[in-house]
Amino acid sequence: MNTQAHGAQPVWPAADFSRVPYEVFTDPRIYRLEMERLFRGPVWNYLAMECEIPQWGDYVTNWVGDTQVIVSRSRDGSIHAVENSCAHRGARLADKVRGNARRHVCPYHLWTYSLSGDLASVPFEKGHKGKGGMPPCFDKKDHGLRKLRIATHGGLVFGTYSDDTEPLPAYLGPHSLTQIDRLLMQRTPKVIGYLRQKIAGNWKLYNENVRDPYHASLLHLFQVSFGIQTPAMKGGIKLDKDGKNTWNHSILSDDDAQGLRDLDRDYAGSGKLMPDLQMHDPAMLEVPLDLQDGYKTTLLSMFPSLVVAQVDNTYAIRHLRPKGPDAVELHITYLGFEGDTDEDLHNRLLQVNLIGPAGYISMEDGEALRLVQLGLKTRHGEHSVLEMGGTGELHDTDYLSQEISIRGFWTHYHQLMGFEPAATEKV
Ligand code: FES
Ligand SMILES: [Fe+2]
Repeated sequence: MNTQAHGAQPVWPAADFSRVPYEVFTDPRIYRLEMERLFRGPVWNYLAMECEIPQWGDYVTNWVGDTQVIVSRSRDGSIHAVENSCAHRGARLADKVRGNARRHVCPYHLWTYSLSGDLASVPFEKGHKGKGGMPPCFDKKDHGLRKLRIATHGGLVFGTYSDDTEPLPAYLGPHSLTQIDRLLMQRTPKVIGYLRQKIAGNWKLYNENVRDPYHASLLHLFQVSFGIQTPAMKGGIKLDKDGKNTWNHSILSDDDAQGLRDLDRDYAGSGKLMPDLQMHDPAMLEVPLDLQDGYKTTLLSMFPSLVVAQVDNTYAIRHLRPKGPDAVELHITYLGFEGDTDEDLHNRLLQVNLIGPAGYISMEDGEALRLVQLGLKTRHGEHSVLEMGGTGELHDTDYLSQEISIRGFWTHYHQLMGFEPAATEKV
């Protein structure tokens, strides 16, 4: 299927991807193409944490794009991922989020599959009392479940449909490897909880949002009032060469106070800043950082649908599950570590409240995405503007107010989607 034949060919008016055509957020034809070209294409999709399936038969279900998969551990310790849809007539096999099963048995006609997806048995394959049954040419080898190829790193399990996907370490790139090592490989992670958030916006709006530190002290203005995240913070971004994976970070520094004095100028005209507000109970902000490298917030965004986030002492795997062109489910796995004390656990759960869907940050992001989706509904043939932090070549920055990492996302997206080359002239 080429994009032309598919009828979906948005115009990209700027070669540096500082303009994004709004149809990519609304057109159902583009959404279908994304499921095929991205999620079933040469990408590594996040599937699970290894610690979620420690024993033989443990499984979790997840989504690759909008296709549901079962991720399970076999007797020999290997991990498998198969589509959660029977090879007979398509029924869903596993109807639970997680569980333990030594085989996948379809509830409809009891076709039974190994954990690796091979069809093991078909009731009445040879008929009953010499009558009926499958035709002699029926071969169970031809009727397995659709399988994904698996790779793991740092306890994260990834799957791909494509034989062309590069090896996982190369796909992750240097910044992701460094950060996964920093966050997940120095200690043994364990799951301390899950949250889900339904967002009434396109899944790529979330990818933009998480690569957008420009909004952090604007949309989330309460953070500035309470000194949680201020425009004066040091920080920046590091981007892989192809733009697909990004690391944003911020550091609390001694000169934040001076920066706060400049806020009136930075928020000129908005009338929104209320620096006199105080938090009634700041306990959740008074927990010392458990990683002693000074990073207050680090967001590792990996194409197409994964974020490994550290905000203070909250460690989260955020995973996007697209639900059509105008909806996405954000599934968050919160992590602690083996050896955590009760107090550590208490503090992690306390801080989850700051950024989870019940706290301000995720709620505000979800609402902003809903408003974008509503606002661009009728703007056919138009595009957004991404110029904050500079246009032209992609590059790392040592400042936070930038949209360069968003342009990195679109650079890679555009290439994988096989869209026509962007214009060479900037509009
Ligand atoms: S649909 Fe699964 S066995 Fe028939
Ligand atoms: Fe945000």
